[in-house]
Amino acid sequence: MSDTGKRAFDVVIVGAGFAGMYMLHRVRGLGLSARVYEAGSGVGGTWYWNRYPGARCDVESMEYSYQFSDELQQEWHWSERFATQPEILRYADHVADRFGLRDDIQFDTRVTGAEFDEKASHWRVSTTGGGGPAAPVSARFLIMATGCLSSTNMPSIPGIDSFAGEKYHTGQWPHEPVDFTGKRVGVIGTGSSAIQSIPIIAGQAKELFVFQRTPNYSVPAHNAPLDPDYEARIKAEYGAFRARNSLMPNAFGSSLPRNEASALAATDQERRQAYETRWQRGGLVLLGAFGDLLLDARANETAAEFVREKIRAIVRDPVTAELLTPWQVIGCKRLCVDTGYYETFNRPNVHLVDVKAHPIEQITPTGLRTGGRDYPLDCIVFATGFDAMTGTLTKMDIRGRGGLSLREKWHAGPRTYLGLGLAAFPNLFTISGPGSPSVLTNMLVSIEQHVNWIAACLAYMREHGHTVIEATAQAEDAWVEHVNSVADRTLYPGCNSWYLGANVPGKTRVFMPLIGYPPYVRKCEEVVAKGYEGFVLEPAVQAR
Ligand SMILES: Cc1cc2nc3c(=O)[nH]c(=O)nc-3n(C[C@H](O)[C@H](O)[C@H](O)COP(=O)(O)OP(=O)(O)OC[C@H]3O[C@@H](n4cnc5c(N)ncnc54)[C@H](O)[C@@H]3O)c2cc1C
Ligand SMILES: NC(=O)c1ccc[n+]([C@@H]2O[C@H](COP(=O)([O-])OP(=O)(O)OC[C@H]3O[C@@H](n4cnc5c(N)ncnc54)[C@H](OP(=O)(O)O)[C@@H]3O)[C@@H](O)[C@H]2O)c1
Repeated sequence: MSDTGKRAFDVVIVGAGFAGMYMLHRVRGLGLSARVYEAGSGVGGTWYWNRYPGARCDVESMEYSYQFSDELQQEWHWSERFATQPEILRYADHVADRFGLRDDIQFDTRVTGAEFDEKASHWRVSTTGGGGPAAPVSARFLIMATGCLSSTNMPSIPGIDSFAGEKYHTGQWPHEPVDFTGKRVGVIGTGSSAIQSIPIIAGQAKELFVFQRTPNYSVPAHNAPLDPDYEARIKAEYGAFRARNSLMPNAFGSSLPRNEASALAATDQERRQAYETRWQRGGLVLLGAFGDLLLDARANETAAEFVREKIRAIVRDPVTAELLTPWQVIGCKRLCVDTGYYETFNRPNVHLVDVKAHPIEQITPTGLRTGGRDYPLDCIVFATGFDAMTGTLTKMDIRGRGGLSLREKWHAGPRTYLGLGLAAFPNLFTISGPGSPSVLTNMLVSIEQHVNWIAACLAYMREHGHTVIEATAQAEDAWVEHVNSVADRTLYPGCNSWYLGANVPGKTRVFMPLIGYPPYVRKCEEVVAKGYEGFVLEPAVQAR
C-alpha cells in the first residue's frame, strides 16, 4: 500500500520480514490499528534481499516455517529438505496474501527515526519514501521487527568506488538474474553467504578468485528433495514435533537431538563414529555430537580436527587445503552448511587468495590489489556480512525519555531486558533483539515466541488499563549481566565473530545473543506470571 494519509495508529511495526508479518497479524487480531513500514518493495525481509546464487536455509524446511496456523503448516508443501531463497520468498508472499497483510504494509518506506513524547505517551515516527520525508505519524507502541542480519557490512577498502566493473553485496542482490558466464569474478569473504554462492559462481565464471581472510568450518547439507513419507509423518503430528523442537537448546533438530555426554569421555573410535554419523546426516547437527563441544576447548578440538581431516581429504592441492583449514574453535563463528564448497577448490578455474597474510590493499578501476599483486576482475562480490543485531537499529535516530538516543544508550554494547524491552524507551519492543536467543536458534521459532509474548502483553495492558510499559534499569542491568555470564561460561566469546560485533571495525565487542532457548522461554513466562516483573506498567504503577 502507499501512504494513506492516516497519521495515528495504536502500533507501528518496522520491517515486513517474518517478524513484522506475524506481529501485524497478531496486532490486528487484537483489534488494534497498525501500520508496517518496510524499506523494501515486498515482504520476506532476509529472503527478499539475499537473492545471491545458492542462497538457502540451513534449518530444515519442515522446521523453518510458521507454526501459528495449523492450516498453513498442513497445506504448505516444501519441495526440498533445505528450502531455497526463492521458495522461502514464495512462502512469505503466500502468507502475506493468505492473511491479507499487504493492506497495512507501506513498502518502499524507511523509518529514519522515532521520538517518545513523554507527555502524550506515544511515539512520533519519521519515515522517508519515494517522495522524500513524510510527516511523522504517532503510535502508542513501536515494534522493531527490523531483523538481526539486515544491515549489510561493506568494508572500507581504499578505491572501492573506483571499480569500473560490476559490484554486488550478497545481502543486497539485484532482482534480475546475474550471469557470470565468461567473467573473471572475485568473491571477498568466506562466511555462510560466500560458501553457498562460491560453488555456483565457480560453475559459471571463466575464473573465480576467492579472497579469504579467515577460513571457516563448513559441513555438507546433503540436500535432497523432501521425502514425502517424512513430510507425511511430520504433518501427522506437527504440533508435537514443534513442541519437541522448542525443547532443543537452539529450538531445532529434535529428530537428532544433542548428545549431552562429554566428547572427552568417549574413545577415539566412538567420537569418530559420532561425528561421521552427523556429517553423513548433513547440516548443523554436527555440533550436537557431544554436550561440551562449545564448553571445553579440548572437546571442541576433537570435532574441529574431524572437519579439518575432511577438508584435507576433499581438497586435492595440499597448499590450498592447508589455507582452507580453519584453526579456531569450531562453532565459535557460526558453522556453515554447504553443497560442494570444498570440492569447488579442485576446479582449475578457482583460485584461493589469502588476504589474512596480505590484507586487500586497494580496489582499482580494473580489479583488486593484494600482496603486491593485481587481480584483474570483471565483477566483485562482497560476501562481507552484516552489522549484525544492532546496526539496523542504531542507524535510525531513536530517542526515548529525555531525548536519550539509542546510539548513546548502546555505545558500549546493546542493553536490553530479555531482548524485548529497553529502560528509558517505553512502549518500544524489539523482536529477536540483542539479549535474546535469536540468531543462535531456528529464528522462526524465536520470532513467534517474541511476537506471542508482545501480543499477550498488549492484551494484558488493555485489560488492566495500562498505557505505558517500560523495563526498569535494574532489570536491564541484571539481564545484561546474565547474558554475559552465560556466554563467558562457553567458548563463544573467543573468536572474532559477528556475534561479538568483531566483524565491524570500531564496534564494541560484546557477545550479543543469549545462549539457550528453553531456559529463556521459561524466564519470559515467569516474568509474565509475576505480573511483568522487571517492567513498570502505568498508569496503575507510578514508581520507577
Ligand atoms: C542469507 C541468510 C540466511 C539465513 N538463514 C537462516 C537459516 O537458515 N535459519 C535461521 O533460523 N535463520 C536464518 N537467517 C536469519 C534470518 O534473518 C531470520 O531467519 C529471519 O528471516 C529474520 O526475520 P526478521 O523478520 O526478524 O528480519 P528480516 O528478515 O531481516 O526483516 C527485517 C525487515 O526490516 C526492514 N527494515 C529494517 N530497517 C528498516 C527501517 N529503518 N525502515 C523500514 N524497514 C526496515 C528490512 O528491509 C527487512 O525487510 C539467515 C539470514 C541470512 C542473511
Ligand atoms: N542459511 C545459511 O546457510 C546462511 C547463509 C548466509 C548467511 N546466513 C546467516 O547470516 C550470517 C552472516 O553470513 P555472511 O556470510 O553473510 O557474513 P559473515 O559470516 O560475517 O562472513 C563475512 C565474511 O567476509 C569476510 N570479510 C569481511 N570484511 C572483510 C575484509 N575487509 N577483507 C576480507 N574479508 C572480509 C569475513 O572475514 P573474517 O571472518 O575474517 O571477518 C567473512 O569471511 C551467517 O553467519 C548466518 O547466520 C545463513
